[in-house]
Amino acid sequence: MEKTKLQELLAQMTLREKLGQLTQLIPPLLGVDPDVDITGPLSEMNIDPEWLPEIGSTLNAFGAENLRTMQEKHLQRSRLGIPLIFMADIVHGYKTIFPIPLAVGSSFNPKLYETACAVAAKEGAAAGIHLTFAPMTDLVRDPRWGRVMESTGEDHYLNGEMTKAAVLGYQGKDLKEKGRLAACVKHFAAYGSPWGGRDYNTVDLSEGMLREFYLPAYKAALDVGVAMVMTSFNTVNRIPASANKWLMRDILRKEWGFDGVVISDFAAVDETITHGVSADSAEAARKCLEAGVDIEMMSTHYIRNAEELIRSGKLEEALIDEAVLRILELKKALGLFENPYKDASVEDEKALIQCEEHLQAAYDVAVECPVLLKNEDVLPLQALEKKLGKDLKIGLAGPFACMGNLSGGWAIAKADDDVSTSLLGALQNAMPNATIETAAVRHMGALQAGIEDMEYYPEEVEALADCDVLIAAVGEPAADTGESASKTVLRLSPNQERLIHDLRKLGKPVVVVVFSGRPLEILPILDSADALLQAWFLGDASSRVLADLLTGKANPSGRLSMSFPVNVGQIPVHYNAYRTGRPSHGQKIRFVSRYLDCENEALFPFGFGLSYSQFAYSNMAVDTLDGDSDVVAKARITVENVSDIPGMETVQLYIRDVVAQVVRPMKELRGFRKIYLEAGARQVVEFEITRQMLSYWDADNRFIFEPGEFEIMLGRNSAETGSVTVSLA
Ligand code: GLC
Repeated sequence: MEKTKLQELLAQMTLREKLGQLTQLIPPLLGVDPDVDITGPLSEMNIDPEWLPEIGSTLNAFGAENLRTMQEKHLQRSRLGIPLIFMADIVHGYKTIFPIPLAVGSSFNPKLYETACAVAAKEGAAAGIHLTFAPMTDLVRDPRWGRVMESTGEDHYLNGEMTKAAVLGYQGKDLKEKGRLAACVKHFAAYGSPWGGRDYNTVDLSEGMLREFYLPAYKAALDVGVAMVMTSFNTVNRIPASANKWLMRDILRKEWGFDGVVISDFAAVDETITHGVSADSAEAARKCLEAGVDIEMMSTHYIRNAEELIRSGKLEEALIDEAVLRILELKKALGLFENPYKDASVEDEKALIQCEEHLQAAYDVAVECPVLLKNEDVLPLQALEKKLGKDLKIGLAGPFACMGNLSGGWAIAKADDDVSTSLLGALQNAMPNATIETAAVRHMGALQAGIEDMEYYPEEVEALADCDVLIAAVGEPAADTGESASKTVLRLSPNQERLIHDLRKLGKPVVVVVFSGRPLEILPILDSADALLQAWFLGDASSRVLADLLTGKANPSGRLSMSFPVNVGQIPVHYNAYRTGRPSHGQKIRFVSRYLDCENEALFPFGFGLSYSQFAYSNMAVDTLDGDSDVVAKARITVENVSDIPGMETVQLYIRDVVAQVVRPMKELRGFRKIYLEAGARQVVEFEITRQMLSYWDADNRFIFEPGEFEIMLGRNSAETGSVTVSLA
């Protein structure tokens, strides 16, 4: 349907029908199901049933048959036959669940994110969904915030590369294409930086901080054509994002040229009243429409007030028209006017959901996500078996040892029963000749449910005393991660820590596997662990992947996309901090920027991760280039696999602008290359350095390149690099 046709359609619409397009309600409130009690939730939402035929979209309803029926009923009632858009939170997989985004960020392999999102799109589209509220690309530096699990981490460059890959995975090149979903980048903006790491709390950042760290990854999504943007719950510099004209009109629309749809987060328009910047329903409607929110999710201020606001001259109807037109454009782009059911197909659903190919994709993505943080000659188990010259007797303990569902948060379409193999089962499959004894494997309840700790009796682990190696499967329950899951204590629960120390007392090698949706405070147990594998939540392939990594069938290649703090008191701790005027350089002297009781550096820094292989770096060099090209230098380094185990290494490029108008981070990631090296092989890895990479936001918030001295760093993580300083113009 051409744009003019859409304008003709718009011209036929009554104001009430237009306002229906600007409203999104959950299915029960849509009234399409005659059994739904429309006096119940509707009355709480002040919804007049006569509006319902014109509501423009719904969220988090699933299933081809269900959504085909809902669309059919809707179209029968809609005067102009404008189809619904079915939107949903498909964040890391629909039914085939992939690792949480923070884990995918730690793969340092954007291609994997594209694969995961493409599979999620195929399954979600077959189930009748048209658009997903993903990728979330909020920059995160505070693991107290439960939603760090949904982000790819603390670095905007890595987040940008990952976000572009996700959008391309979901959307492909054409939204009409079968098996594609429109994507929605969220939460605009800076939701990942709430004071105290407490969800929904205040965000207050200078424009320079926003532009330098928090905004770039949203822009990256726009650069690859993301269809929608979702505003966040938080204030940005004292104005809630959904009522923030500067954010949406000045930055998103005018400066970045975004002409897609903006949707509020769940009832965020309503919350401008709670925030205290809207006096009442009418002002909430006016302020958010004027600021640029097109779709009001799960509140009804637009549809209840806009007519009177327009009649009384307090609101331009043109604002309504431009919002409606963007929504009609999105429906056109999805092909919904020609085919309102798009890819909804019961047959395709059956054929695609958790099919072999998708489960294999889940494995291929997950196997590159876990991060080996410590390994003192105990892993892989196959090597231990060889060293001992006998079949291993493995002791397995901890609340995650026998858990099947390790999907993590936001796997909302996933059946929540323990459907996948547990770590116990997968280990037994991977090492059929091994004997595995278990102890203290009761599941752990969640803090969300008021359960403080797992049940544990120290004498239980004595049964493991004659094992050759002990594995503790510990962590935080998935229910304690994600939205409204902020915590002030990030240590493992006391009984889990006791379990690990008790295992240590048995005098055998102890391997700790940590399941979490965030960096936890693991220092208290680190001395009791000979090896520690950060497992995150890896989805359907979780146990198979972990068994293969622990045995050595696979080689860990994850690198941290978010720093692990020594303790909560260090937070925010991130690698790209400013030097300050009094850097401590690790010295315990007074009058420098340091703590009396803790080092400044993270326990495990951004980019860190071990492998079973050993990689040596040598011959770093930087050649400067003259001329007009944007490439001003080339940096290279030789990487050699000096072990007898093939493996993957992520070579990381960091830069530092030595002197600028404003302070610059001590280092900033500007490139990474994940390479595979056979045993004994070597490779020269080269990066082009461009003026764009070296540019920054100056004191007047202009993005500029300034000639001068730059430190170029290449290495295996943000704390271990070679360095060459050059003058570049
Ligand atoms: C939630 C989340 C957002 C999600 C939306 C719809 O509150 O903040 O990420 O997409 O509501 O479920």
